[in-house]
Amino acid sequence: MSKTETKPKKAPVKGKAEEERQVPIFVMGKRYDVPASLTIQKALEYAGYQLIRGCGCRGGICGACGTVYRFPNSYRIEVGLACQTVVQPDMYITQIPFFPGNKAVYDIETLPAEGGTIAALYPEVFKCVGCGTCTRSCPMDIDVLGYISKAIQGDLKAVAEGSFDCVMCGLCAARCPSEEVQYNIAILARRLYGRYIAPKAEHVTQAVKAVESGVYDKALKDLMKKNMDELKKLYKDLEIEPDMAEESWTPQNRSHLGE
Ligand code: SF4
Ligand code: SF4
Ligand code: FES
Repeated sequence: MSKTETKPKKAPVKGKAEEERQVPIFVMGKRYDVPASLTIQKALEYAGYQLIRGCGCRGGICGACGTVYRFPNSYRIEVGLACQTVVQPDMYITQIPFFPGNKAVYDIETLPAEGGTIAALYPEVFKCVGCGTCTRSCPMDIDVLGYISKAIQGDLKAVAEGSFDCVMCGLCAARCPSEEVQYNIAILARRLYGRYIAPKAEHVTQAVKAVESGVYDKALKDLMKKNMDELKKLYKDLEIEPDMAEESWTPQNRSHLGE
């Protein structure tokens, strides 16, 4: 996050937006008055910050916008995703766009798909004291302590399934008294489970074979010859899957699928 203006933006010219209630928030100690309906992320931008780090999908998926905040007269540190959490009066806010947690380096192709692999790469998993702070810190409502317990037991499937919704925001690790990096343990389990244990999806196997057979090569080469305007037009004209489409929906024009 970087600051591009020294002063908070003034309220917009008279209109609906001006009538909206403004609330004070504090960003790294400095007060800004922002519309009460904004998420923390939008409020930061409203206040003049340019989000270079700590901002990705803006939709609660990428986990880039982990944020800690606190209210006056409360000892409690609260956490949330900046793109999903609406501002409240007197929030003291700091983003933690990156948490420097331990990350094992490995080649998934050479790792044994067994629970002991977690213990070998992340022996600190056994330091967990079961306090549950990780679970209370998780903006995705994941039972983090639950999957860490399963990691200790070496149950790859349970860790993979229990951590499936993890967005890697790092908030659990930031607050763990045992210095676990829960999300890296979890992604190791999901990689091992996905690579070696989960049943293979037949349609994905077929799709990979189709790619390897070169069925899309011509369409890809044609695309690469197009200039920016042609690409934009193609994108605009693309047949989009309707919101409530049947599972069997396919586009009318299937030429780009090599058909
Ligand atoms: S915060 Fe850390 S020590 Fe506490 S339960 Fe979670 S993993 Fe264990
Ligand atoms: S498990 Fe940890 S890293 Fe994953 S979403 Fe929850 S708090 Fe974020
Ligand atoms: S910006 Fe991706 S989760 Fe918030």
